[in-house]
Amino acid sequence: PPRWWEPVDGGGPARWAQRAEVAADARFFGLGGRASGPRLRNGVYRLWNTDPRGRFGPGDDPLYITMPVQLVVADAGTHLAFYDNSWVGRVILKEGEEGAGSGHDRPGTSEVRMDGGPLRCWVLLGTPARVLHGWTALTGLPALPPSWALGPQHARWGFGGADEVRRIAAGYRERGLPLSALHLDIDHYDGHRVFTVDRRRFPDLPGLAKELRAEGVRLVSIVDPAVKAEPGNETYDSGAAAGAFVRDARGDDVRGEVWPGECVYPDFTDPAVREWWGSLYEERLAQGFSGVWHDMNEPVSFAPFGDMTLPLSARHALDGRGGDHREAHNVYGLTMGLAGYEGLRRLRPDERPFLFSRSGWAGMQRYGGTWSGDVETGWPGLRASLSLVLGLGLCGVPYSGPDVGGFTGNPSPELFLRWYQLGAYLPLFRTHAAIDAGRREPWEFGDEVFGHARTALLERERLGPYFMTLAQLARLTGAPYARPVWWGAPPHR
Ligand code: GLC
Repeated sequence: PPRWWEPVDGGGPARWAQRAEVAADARFFGLGGRASGPRLRNGVYRLWNTDPRGRFGPGDDPLYITMPVQLVVADAGTHLAFYDNSWVGRVILKEGEEGAGSGHDRPGTSEVRMDGGPLRCWVLLGTPARVLHGWTALTGLPALPPSWALGPQHARWGFGGADEVRRIAAGYRERGLPLSALHLDIDHYDGHRVFTVDRRRFPDLPGLAKELRAEGVRLVSIVDPAVKAEPGNETYDSGAAAGAFVRDARGDDVRGEVWPGECVYPDFTDPAVREWWGSLYEERLAQGFSGVWHDMNEPVSFAPFGDMTLPLSARHALDGRGGDHREAHNVYGLTMGLAGYEGLRRLRPDERPFLFSRSGWAGMQRYGGTWSGDVETGWPGLRASLSLVLGLGLCGVPYSGPDVGGFTGNPSPELFLRWYQLGAYLPLFRTHAAIDAGRREPWEFGDEVFGHARTALLERERLGPYFMTLAQLARLTGAPYARPVWWGAPPHR
């Protein structure tokens, strides 16, 4: 049974904990995107979406997407347990032990502790496929990406300008390599302000988009939630007039520090704010973008130490109920996704939106997918990036993939190639890297690597219809495209 305790002052929501016993051979999966997985070992897993400060490896937890949902797989059966509560909390997992026929099995335990909110738990039983199908009935079917989003994509923080973008596209074209999309990062903004363009570097972005589109290459835009707090910045002025930004208990806008400097944060838990934000995507479409890439939406406010997010006391609308950041934090990215998705649907009703987001929560699949975030370049990072894709798939988010080659530094030619070969078989196949990192074009690592990378790339292109089938199946059944080998037959030890 659940245990409750009230805060000492008697005020505020109750905290609760619930412990469940699982079979001795049970294995735990899920809890969002966990770098140490996909199988989750003994440990304390925090439920608090977190930016790991620009890089992470298998030892870093939690990361950008946490979810109070776990898949428990044992010989006797599989179940999924979902605690429908977005509050800050934690899950303590202890794996059981089998007594090897001695009759002395020790069961495992999973204990969920929440700092507030309701005790509302769902348990679904059956095979992994049946359980995931039930999960989509609870939290929604995964969005179907447009077919081009299943093709090869190339990103980089720091393209520099339109000429460099043209040079990359030509690099693919001249080598006969397919390319579906190029992604523009924050450096194409004017002073890092969302919904602007640096006209010195990109004098005619709609023209560039058209030119690339004629070659079959689309442009995708990064969209950060934080808005530079500066009168004269159009997005700030219209948001301030609409009272769109998160406030403190005194009613003043909460300010934080992100790429453009001092910023304010739209309160996406307010339906009116979501509508306002969604309408801003018109500007992105007018610039010629075909999709959006939501970033920094845990949300992040830079700080030299401690938690890089908004104060816990920040107020949120929570769809009219009202509450603070302890409850709203984990659904900030999710509700930004809803705002963006609905906006794109309103603006382009005949097109499937392409949206993927760094942060999110249970149900984020309705609006699109995600990617690994800032995975550190190195063999452990390669492992962590696969763990995220498989683990998120088991949480109902089937479309994701890593920064191929890793976000930081310079991969060795072999590491780059292995990452590339793995990425070619994952739903989102995209190279990306930080502004100070080395190149990620597949031809930058010598002829031998290029030959093998080319084979992987062409194979991915050949598998296009197969990926589309997987996407359709995910849309119908919730089954991830990339599945653990035990999907059809749960593991024996
Ligand atoms: C964050 C993102 C990364 C992006 C960078 C600059 O670190 O995770 O993908 O390149 O911000 O926008």
